[in-house]
Amino acid sequence: MRWKTLRAPWNQPRGSETDPLDAVSSHLLAVDSRESILGVGRLNFTAIGEARIRYMGVAAGYRRRGIGTLILCGLEQRALALGAVRIVLDARESALGFYRKHGYTATGPGPMLFNRIAHVKMVKRLDR
Ligand SMILES: CC(C)(COP(=O)(O)OP(=O)(O)OC[C@H]1O[C@@H](n2cnc3c(N)ncnc32)[C@H](O)[C@@H]1OP(=O)(O)O)[C@@H](O)C(=O)NCCC(=O)NCCS
Repeated sequence: MRWKTLRAPWNQPRGSETDPLDAVSSHLLAVDSRESILGVGRLNFTAIGEARIRYMGVAAGYRRRGIGTLILCGLEQRALALGAVRIVLDARESALGFYRKHGYTATGPGPMLFNRIAHVKMVKRLDR
């Protein structure tokens, strides 16, 4: 699902959707009743109290039905349970509205992926 939503549309090879932090991260999947994966997201810690969300992707035919919200909220709950006080992420410009809707604030420009996908750095303080 990660590769399908975040890499295949930009002709990136299989395997380009992973990194070494996968082994030490929390992963959340949304599945349907037949256990087909509809969406994914990942959480890892970057410092004491600070977690990062990455690789949020919902299957193209299932967007705008609340699945991304379920994954994001689930990862935030997991971050809280593990002691995070804030979450940082790099949002694709096309997904800025999604993260803003969930309380994330832009803090500055983020990386440019594949020379064409601009990102914005965002942060959200978690309420205990
Ligand atoms: C971004 C993404 C994960 C959101 O998942 P989703 O399941 O579509 O999101 P939800 O249905 O929970 O959206 C909740 C609300 O966020 C907002 N929202 C969702 N996607 C948005 C977008 N692309 N732009 C602006 N606002 C958006 C809407 O207000 C939406 O509510 P509405 O449908 O009632 O208007 C999904 O669109 C996706 O996988 N996009 C392609 C991959 C990607 O860009 N991932 C993010 C990388 S940083």
